[in-house]
Amino acid sequence: MTYQAKVYGRNDEVAALYKMFEAGRDVSMPGPRRLGKTFLLDRLVDAAPRYNWTAVKVELAGCADTRAVFRELCARIGTKRSGGARAKDWFLQRFSQFLGHRTELGGAWYQGLLTVDYESHFERLITAMNEDPQRRWLLLIDELPIFLKALHDKGSAGVAAARDFMNLTARLRQQNPKVRWMITGSIGIEPLAQAGAYVGVLAKFQAFELQPLSVTQAKAFVQDQAAAGHLPGRSSISNAEAEALVAAVGWRAAFYLDALAQKLGGAPSDDPLQARSAVEEAVNRLLLPAERATFGPWEEHLRKHYQEAERALAFGVLGSLAERDQGTDMDGLLAALGRPGLTRDDLQSLLVRLHAEGFVTIDGWDDDSPQCAFRNPLLRRWWSRYRPQAIA
Ligand SMILES: Nc1ncnc2c1ncn2[C@@H]1O[C@H](COP(=O)(O)OP(=O)(O)OP(=O)(O)O)[C@@H](O)[C@H]1O
Ligand SMILES: [Mg+2]
Repeated sequence: MTYQAKVYGRNDEVAALYKMFEAGRDVSMPGPRRLGKTFLLDRLVDAAPRYNWTAVKVELAGCADTRAVFRELCARIGTKRSGGARAKDWFLQRFSQFLGHRTELGGAWYQGLLTVDYESHFERLITAMNEDPQRRWLLLIDELPIFLKALHDKGSAGVAAARDFMNLTARLRQQNPKVRWMITGSIGIEPLAQAGAYVGVLAKFQAFELQPLSVTQAKAFVQDQAAAGHLPGRSSISNAEAEALVAAVGWRAAFYLDALAQKLGGAPSDDPLQARSAVEEAVNRLLLPAERATFGPWEEHLRKHYQEAERALAFGVLGSLAERDQGTDMDGLLAALGRPGLTRDDLQSLLVRLHAEGFVTIDGWDDDSPQCAFRNPLLRRWWSRYRPQAIA
């Protein structure tokens, strides 16, 4: 599937990002679960040859230590999408003295580098990228904070390992100015950086804010999903239906647009009333218990990544907001929570985090009592129906 000709293919974002890389900037793209971060990284890899870069995407969510990160990077470079055999030859040549006879034994080309010296090899690899006369390398690091969090969860030795890793990347970036870096993440990286004392490393990344799809893009996306045969109940979606569906999804991430479109049944109709009722039926099907997988990651996110006290408060806040489809202001929320010990400041800092991670929207930060609501109206309805609790 080629997204280059699609209005929802994130082509403007790809162009904007390559402009930043061209200007020598490294980029940090935080963004909530399911927004489309990984999708955009894949489009950057696709587009790299057109922009005259060689891009390699590394997924860190499953990595338990720095060695695993290095292995993941080695495994991805030299693949068809990321430089191909000729790039691999370049690295093989640069590493010939370390690989020796090992490469003749079969197995992955980088097997001989995963030794106790892997950190020096990591440095040599980035240096080889920097000195590559044929290619300009772009490293796309998906879910850096989840990796750092996994390290932090191992205790003080893990926190030290996270700091070492971030200091290593800082040094590599400084020593290899031709290589560009982009990092993404769905959990806030700042609290980790503060706990691990590596805030300074992050300061040198330029932020890029990925937005949900526009209404036009969202409509085109669901209509294409139908036309391409990706929906069980529909091979076409009318304009009125696309309109109603996009409105019902509210937070226009492709993931939720698709999830709801999957539930659309009956015959297409361009009548606005009929379209709305077809969409409402689809919403009801999407909110059935069997669809847990569609909404579960949000709940799981809080369980996995929030400390106990913060987690209890987060579930309290979301439980309250789930009952109010227009949301409420901060005073209303404080009153609804009814926790005598809870200060406004505590609540505000939690809301900042829930906002950054896509759970809520906040209107009027500068007002005395900003307005907050669920960001994703479907998730709100799911939350209200199943009432997830801090202690499962
Ligand atoms: N613009 C788009 N066009 C078509 N499909 C998209 C688009 N954006 C995202 N998707 C699809 O939506 C799903 C979720 O997107 P993606 O995995 O990129 O989100 P994410 O932000 O990386 O989420 P997570 O934080 O959970 O990893 C994927 O199946 C992806 O292919
Ligand atoms: Mg992702």
